Amino acid sequence: MADRKSERQVGIIGSGLIGHSFAMLYAAAGYRVRMYDIKPEQLRHALSIIDDQLEHLSQNELLRGKLTIKEQRALITGTNDFAECVKDAFFIQECVNESLELKREVHAKIDPICRKDAIISSSTSALVPSLISENLTNKNRFIVCHPTNPPFYAPLVEVIPAPWTDPEVVITTKELMAEIGQVPVIVKKEIDGFVFNRIQYSIIGECWRLYEEGVMSAEDIDKVMSEGLGRRYAFMGPLEITYLNADGLLIFGDLYRETLYRVQCSFGPPKKMEGPTLEKMHNEIAARIPLDKLYERRKWRDIRLASLQKLINELDESHPK
Ligand SMILES: NC(=O)c1ccc[n+]([C@@H]2O[C@H](COP(=O)([O-])OP(=O)(O)OC[C@H]3O[C@@H](n4cnc5c(N)ncnc54)[C@H](O)[C@@H]3O)[C@@H](O)[C@H]2O)c1
Repeated sequence: MADRKSERQVGIIGSGLIGHSFAMLYAAAGYRVRMYDIKPEQLRHALSIIDDQLEHLSQNELLRGKLTIKEQRALITGTNDFAECVKDAFFIQECVNESLELKREVHAKIDPICRKDAIISSSTSALVPSLISENLTNKNRFIVCHPTNPPFYAPLVEVIPAPWTDPEVVITTKELMAEIGQVPVIVKKEIDGFVFNRIQYSIIGECWRLYEEGVMSAEDIDKVMSEGLGRRYAFMGPLEITYLNADGLLIFGDLYRETLYRVQCSFGPPKKMEGPTLEKMHNEIAARIPLDKLYERRKWRDIRLASLQKLINELDESHPK
C-alpha cells in the first residue's frame, strides 16, 4: 500500500448529491478519488458542480484543507468503467439510490473485484448493513457510513457495522472519517432508520401533524426550528440542553416528567405524508422557494453551513468545549 495519500484511491459509486459531496471531502483531505456513475451525463454534471462549488467556497474563503482548488480538483477523476473505480481503492463509498435491490446488485459487483484489504462502505440512510451485505464474500469488511446531507458541509457520520463486520474495520473507518474532517458516531446495534433518521423522522412526523391540524403555517413551523430549537442544536444535543434547562436531569425529571409524558401521549400514531395536505404544504413552500431555484437555495444553505462550521472551529479554539 502506497504511503502517500495522493496515491491512495477512494472509489465513489454514484455521483449524485451524496457521492459528489463525499468526493470533495476526500480530495480536500488529499486522497485520490475515482467516481463512477451508471449515467455518464450525471457524472459530467457532478464534476461541473464540484468545479462550481470549489470556486464558490474559495471566493468565500471557506475552502477545506490545505490544498488549492486546482490541487483538490486534480485529485478527482470521473470514470465510466466500474472496475477502474473499484479495483485499486482502499476505501469504497457506495452512494447509489436508496433501494435494497440496487445496493445488493452493486455490492455483488464490487465484491469479486475489490482489494482484499479494502473497506466497503454504503451511504444508505436507513437500510441495515446486514441486509445489504449478507451474501458477500467480503462481508466482514462491509460497513455503513451514513452522512448528513451534504457531507461536505455537515460533519456528522453514523458508522454502523453489521454483526459480522471486523472490529478493526470499525476502528479504521472511524479514524478515516475523523481524518477527512467528519465527526463519526457509532451505532452499536442495527436498528431501522439508525439514530439520525429516527430523530429526524420524529421531528418531521410532528411537524406534519401540526400542519395538518392547522396549528401553524409551514413557514412558522420551520421558524420554530431555525430561530429557536435549531440555534442550540447547532452546537449542543437535546440531552445536554435538557440538563441545562433545569439544574440537571434529576430536577428536570421532577419538574417536567408529567408534562413531557402528557404531551407525548397526545402525539398519536404515525401518519403518512400524502393527499391534499401534502400538495398544500408543498405549494406553500414552493411559493417562497420555486423548484427551479433549488440549486441557488442549496448554495445559500451550504455557505451558511460552512460559515457556521468556521465560526464553531474558531469558538472551539478560543473557548474549548
Ligand atoms: N440526500 C440525502 O439527504 C441523503 C443523506 C444521507 C444519505 N443518503 C443516502 O445516500 C445514497 C445516495 O443518495 P443521493 O441523495 O446522493 O441520491 P441521488 O439520486 O442524488 O444520486 C444517486 C446516484 O446513483 C447513481 N446510480 C444509480 N444506479 C447506479 C449504479 N448501478 N451504479 C452507479 N451509479 C448508480 C444515479 O445515477 C445517481 O447519480 C442513498 O442511499 C441515500 O439514502 C442521502
